[in-house]
Amino acid sequence: MEHSGINLSLFCVADPTDGFTNIPLKDWNFELQKPYDIPLEERYSFQNGVHKLWVCADDKPHDPNSHTQPRTEIRITGLNYSSGVWQFEGYAFVPNGTSGATIAQIHGSAKGATTIILRIYNGDMRYYSYGLTAKNLYDKWFRVNIIHNVDKGKLKVFINGTKRFGVKDKGPGEMYFKCGVYGAPANISYYMESRWKDIKNTQEGQVN
Ligand SMILES: *[C@@H]1O[C@H](CO)[C@@H](O)[C@H](O)[C@H]1NC(C)=O
Ligand SMILES: *[C@@H]1O[C@H](CO)[C@@H](O)[C@H](O)[C@H]1NC(C)=O
Ligand SMILES: *[C@@H]1O[C@H](CO)[C@@H](O)[C@H](O)[C@H]1NC(C)=O
Ligand SMILES: *[C@@H]1O[C@H](CO)[C@@H](O)[C@H](O)[C@H]1NC(C)=O
Repeated sequence: MEHSGINLSLFCVADPTDGFTNIPLKDWNFELQKPYDIPLEERYSFQNGVHKLWVCADDKPHDPNSHTQPRTEIRITGLNYSSGVWQFEGYAFVPNGTSGATIAQIHGSAKGATTIILRIYNGDMRYYSYGLTAKNLYDKWFRVNIIHNVDKGKLKVFINGTKRFGVKDKGPGEMYFKCGVYGAPANISYYMESRWKDIKNTQEGQVN
């Protein structure tokens, strides 16, 4: 109703993906990391569009030369970024019992290995082991959107389409998105699992 002078779009809910261009992901964009001495099918399944990733606290790291905590993770490969505005989207499910597990991260930064880590502790999502991002996430699907504005050095996290957290990044680097389960340094449950579906990688504006 243009003559009323009311902008009807004000009544529409803005979506975190507005203004972003989807980059279609191919199978090869999903690189799996899992304990190096265990076959993938013992820690990962893909059925009906759902990636299920799990790991145990006493599993080996993903690489025999690594001293990191055990992980089973999808690494989005072939879409490294170092400037611009990038977004990861996916629907996640974490079963009750999984705790001290990083379920999503941006790898790479000017300082340290990661730009952001989102961990589930007792059903709540934290930024690393502090900053509370969302609560009561066990046993239900929730939508995760992480927007990284590298040029402005800013990060935003949305859960179910609502902004829950904003933080400065740790400086530019060669970055990429990951999701799955990766044991925190402490306070981890023996069994860790997350499920993911409809994973998307998007970029703001025109993709060249
Ligand atoms: C998770 O499981 C524990 C132990 O069975 C139970 O006490 C708790 O209420 C459960 N939490 C949720 C959110 O379902
Ligand atoms: C997210 O949305 C789903 C589907 O509407 C709902 O089941 C779930 O409880 C929501 N989770 C949170 C944390 O709001
Ligand atoms: C992506 O960046 C990582 C470092 O964060 C690097 O090891 C890897 O080779 C890069 N991949 C591509 C395809 O450029
Ligand atoms: C582990 O949990 C204990 C007890 O809740 C807490 O005091 C400690 O800070 C936690 N450690 C880490 C590294 O999260």
